[in-house]
Amino acid sequence: MATPQTQPRAAVIVRPLVESELPQADQMVRVAFGTFLGMADPSTFMGDANYAFTRWKADPAAVLAAVHDGKLVGSCFATNWGSFGFFGPLTVAPEHWGRGIAQQLLGHTMEILRGWGVRHSGLYTFAHSPKHMALYQKFGFWPRDLVANVIKPVGDVAPQMPPDTSRFNDAKIEDRAQLLAACREVTNANFEGLDVSREIRAIAEQKLGNTIMVWDGSSLAAFAVCHTGPRSEAGTGVCYVKFAAVRPGPRAVDNLGRLLGAIEAFARCAWAHKIMAGVNVARRETFQALVDNGFRGDSQGVAMESGDASSGYNRAGVFILDDWR
Ligand SMILES: CC(C)(COP(=O)(O)OP(=O)(O)OC[C@H]1O[C@@H](n2cnc3c(N)ncnc32)[C@H](O)[C@@H]1OP(=O)(O)O)[C@@H](O)C(=O)NCCC(=O)NCCS
Repeated sequence: MATPQTQPRAAVIVRPLVESELPQADQMVRVAFGTFLGMADPSTFMGDANYAFTRWKADPAAVLAAVHDGKLVGSCFATNWGSFGFFGPLTVAPEHWGRGIAQQLLGHTMEILRGWGVRHSGLYTFAHSPKHMALYQKFGFWPRDLVANVIKPVGDVAPQMPPDTSRFNDAKIEDRAQLLAACREVTNANFEGLDVSREIRAIAEQKLGNTIMVWDGSSLAAFAVCHTGPRSEAGTGVCYVKFAAVRPGPRAVDNLGRLLGAIEAFARCAWAHKIMAGVNVARRETFQALVDNGFRGDSQGVAMESGDASSGYNRAGVFILDDWR
């Protein structure tokens, strides 16, 4: 959608979003994306799935509000995964597009990422939008590989939960720190310092789904952070793999297959009729394994990243599923 370039700049106050603003921020995210995508009723974007509430509750200090004339006109959600950080959704109320508000939000978002000390950062955006490309390039992000958002219907006869599988939310509270450490070991083996503990805890605390863990004896082989149901990032009838990682090595492809089987069994127990996941296509073996396991492309976007092509974890040999949306 073309944005008028003659709009006067709008000076905004950028500050942390407060809880009482969440309903409005949630609505603005839907209307902004729905408008950009040309939906007849933009407010229905994402159905009963939710990002604003879940992400704010997971890390309130990582969410920014832009306020103009006392009114909320934009917001940006950042996510801290240890050595890696990303941001999104970033939205501005459509009537204020083209007035420099996103750039003001992004200036402050960059300070948050710097404060976390991440060594790599990125975002997911629309590959077809010159506006989005130009906006993020101003902040040092460069378009890199495509991100495939893939789906698979959940079969009527889904596999039983495979042996050597457990679920984080079912573990005793006193065992959870050890399980988080096991997950960190797997993410760290893919990208040093990568840590999605906050996602795993958010799912357990907010009852958004579960984290599926696949074991090789006492060693964690793979895990998947799965949202499911209304008010999660999945929505009714969907199991959304927000993040998954497999220990790299000769058994990685087999273990990814085991993990996908366990996800399907979980999805069926949760009454989901489809599984959604995302993968950067530069992670070739992982993308190929998804295709081989019956996943089909549903949509795609592009990853924009800081640093050069060798930094980050979008490359062959990395066994991670995520989309940074
Ligand atoms: C994307 C979005 C956040 C941008 O917000 P915004 O406040 O309109 O953006 P800004 O005005 O700060 O910046 C846009 C910049 O892109 C530039 N731009 C727009 N179209 C362009 C084009 N075709 N080529 C190059 N630059 C372009 C503008 O000129 C402006 O830069 P300038 O201020 O130097 O002139 C807003 O449009 C939105 O909410 N969209 C829907 C949700 C969405 O897509 N979010 C981002 C998902 S990754």
